[in-house]
Amino acid sequence: MKWAVLATWKMSENGNRIASQILAENRKASEAILHGISDVEDNPSFHSVGYGGRPDTNCRVILDGGYMDGDTLHFGAVGAIEGFRSPIHIAYSLREGDANNFLVGQGAEEYASKHHFEKRDNLTEEMIVLYEQEKEKRKQLSAYDGHDTVCFLAKDSFNSICAGTSTSGLFMKEKGRLGDTPVVGNGFYADSKTGAAAATGMGEEIMKGCLSYAAVMYMKIGMPVQEAADKALLQLHQELIERNGYANPMSLIVLDKEGNFGVSTNIDFTFTYGSDEQSTENYIAKLQNGKTVITKLTE
Ligand code: GLY
Repeated sequence: MKWAVLATWKMSENGNRIASQILAENRKASEAILHGISDVEDNPSFHSVGYGGRPDTNCRVILDGGYMDGDTLHFGAVGAIEGFRSPIHIAYSLREGDANNFLVGQGAEEYASKHHFEKRDNLTEEMIVLYEQEKEKRKQLSAYDGHDTVCFLAKDSFNSICAGTSTSGLFMKEKGRLGDTPVVGNGFYADSKTGAAAATGMGEEIMKGCLSYAAVMYMKIGMPVQEAADKALLQLHQELIERNGYANPMSLIVLDKEGNFGVSTNIDFTFTYGSDEQSTENYIAKLQNGKTVITKLTE
């Protein structure tokens, strides 16, 4: 394949089409990822990313994002930032250099202000109402139904592969909590010689298996992309059930260096995929009898 884009959740459909168009014009994977993720960050009807994201225990929308360049292995990430339009753009800007690639909290916000990244109050009226309704009820953190982190993986016609992520994290998370999304190797990983992976779901669970790196590592030692995805995620799922009696929701998207995709999950998980060989389509993955079963969505 000349190019391919794989992204988490049905909410990425429009962003995937935008990213695909960029790659079809022989532009770079990095550009495709930035535009694809921004489309989700800007849409207030998606309640787990950017504008309209679900708030934390203090009714504040706190964002994380990560980016990795598979040619250089350079990465950039921001964690626990408030008041900016696009965590993925800030993360991308941090990828160069040998130090200061992962900034969090006040330091990340000062960096973003200094470099004139666009500010935005991401808390919407709809989310204030939700917060007021739920604050008394919600005793325990849970990866809520429907949507979670937006992750994009892209391969361009120059054979470069990149990964990007953006999220508002868990609804009602504690102040200072970071999930997997901005943590390289956990929420995302890219290596143009092998492929890329990114994760969505309960960050604390994903980090127990360094899930994105695990999938890329399995491909590096020769596993086909779907096998690598299932080996990384389902092995962790099984380990957690054996040790703790349960495993929280996790899903993993994986792209090999040819542009083929693999997906693994322990829930019902939607995702989008497009390439020079097929236009963007929506899929659903489900765990059935110890294997991930993937079906194209028709509507
Ligand atoms: N996967 C997003 C989070 O746990 O924050």
